[in-house]
Amino acid sequence: MPVPLSLSTRLRLPLIGAPMFLASTPGLVAAQCQAGIVGAMPAMNARSTDVLDDWLAELVALLAQPVRDGARPAAPFAVNQIVSRTNKRQDQDLAILVKHRVPVVITSVGAPGDVVAAVHSYGGLVFHDVVSVRHAEKAVAAGVDGIVAVCAGAGGHGGTLNPFAFVSEIRRFYSGTLLLAGTLTSGKDLLAARVMGADLGYIGTRFLASEECEIARGYKQMLVTSNADEIVNTALFSGLRGNYLAPSIVRTGLDPDNLPLPLRPGVGTGGHGEFKLWKDIWAAGQGVGGITDIPSVAEIVARLEKEYQSALGQFAELPECAWS
Ligand SMILES: Cc1cc2nc3c(=O)[nH]c(=O)nc-3n(C[C@H](O)[C@H](O)[C@H](O)COP(=O)(O)O)c2cc1C
Repeated sequence: MPVPLSLSTRLRLPLIGAPMFLASTPGLVAAQCQAGIVGAMPAMNARSTDVLDDWLAELVALLAQPVRDGARPAAPFAVNQIVSRTNKRQDQDLAILVKHRVPVVITSVGAPGDVVAAVHSYGGLVFHDVVSVRHAEKAVAAGVDGIVAVCAGAGGHGGTLNPFAFVSEIRRFYSGTLLLAGTLTSGKDLLAARVMGADLGYIGTRFLASEECEIARGYKQMLVTSNADEIVNTALFSGLRGNYLAPSIVRTGLDPDNLPLPLRPGVGTGGHGEFKLWKDIWAAGQGVGGITDIPSVAEIVARLEKEYQSALGQFAELPECAWS
């Protein structure tokens, strides 16, 4: 298994809790790591580089403590770094990630560039988030330690490629650590991702509907009551295609079936009322139909593990040629 030992020996499940703008706070990340999976948050969720510094100091100290049930140490954590020119804090935030020796840095949007050498200098890992085969090739050439294939239906700025096609194309030129993102909700989905050729799963939306996630109560309830038909894919709100909950769009007065075209990239909402992306327009992936409650992160991870193991057992027992 091409997963670096610094991860594979410390995880209860082959899984990263994906970084989510506003939603992934240190509390959610700590709960994910204590439950035995990698927890991740965007650096930009801290409102300044100084706040990021404080958050990481607290997180590192907290995760060094024994986990309450005493069974195992907490899993490593990850920070997501937006590597595009729009991120004016890039250099300052990177210096803070290096200072705290963040175990895994997940780069997204642009090219991983200088982040790779900086993170490798202390033995950390860099995973790069991609939505196209071309970007996966570029990331491999830049020397990253893993690729996150963000597929169609993923929450937030999801991709457009089908996971079967995307994973097998990346596997033609890359044998390193491959993560699959998009619509994974159950342990069975996680096993399916591994059978397809991914090493690790990457789950965002399922963790939005958890006790520890600090989003609005109404957002969590909407995740429980919505299904895949209610996920709207549009570039209207941010200039990039993203997946959002239709009922949250309806509340702003817009008709999800007749959305206006974006005015120009990056200017989605001009003239269409007073609402804020992420705060009022709520993102979610197409796997939302598998969410029926709002348990603790520990409970979600325990269920994922049970479902994963049970699916593994069922898979092994499939009678040969059962389909004929
Ligand atoms: C509310 C929300 C916010 C997100 N914000 C970010 C982000 O800031 N950076 C990022 O790289 N990905 C972000 N994502 C994408 C996730 O990291 C991940 O790729 C996605 O959630 C996986 O698909 P799933 O939601 O179907 O599990 C976000 C996703 C959601 C649902």
